[in-house]
Amino acid sequence: MDLLFAAARKAADASYSPYSHFRVGAALLCEDGTVFTGTNVENRSFGLTVCAERSAISAAVSAGKRRFVALAVSTPDSGTPVGPCGACRQVISEFMDAEAPVRFAGSLPQMVDTRVGELIPFDSLHDLADRA
Ligand code: THU
Repeated sequence: MDLLFAAARKAADASYSPYSHFRVGAALLCEDGTVFTGTNVENRSFGLTVCAERSAISAAVSAGKRRFVALAVSTPDSGTPVGPCGACRQVISEFMDAEAPVRFAGSLPQMVDTRVGELIPFDSLHDLADRA
């Protein structure tokens, strides 16, 4: 998770965030060991902003990856850790198991280590898979 978080932190440097000035980087570990990163891409029509997590997932899926086993998110412009937004949690759950580890942290050493199932509990996709 340390290496994955370092990749997320680096990805935040590419952030296009002239409106919020809030950089976010995300790094996804794929089942095959490859890592894909993403950053937030804002727009003057604010609602069109794409979060770092969804950028990373789009990059990975576009490269043919479908299963991700860990996720790290870096928000270097905040002291405290900032977790993925609700929309991203839904998209993350599409491609990751409930048990998959997630780390997020800001600029301070404080970090949150959690799992997809904690970010999005009672998720219909995971619940259906459990019953299959
Ligand atoms: N943002 C992300 O990229 N991921 C998150 O998990 C939280 C929010 C972005 C969206 C926007 O560009 C900026 O952070 C401020 O909300």
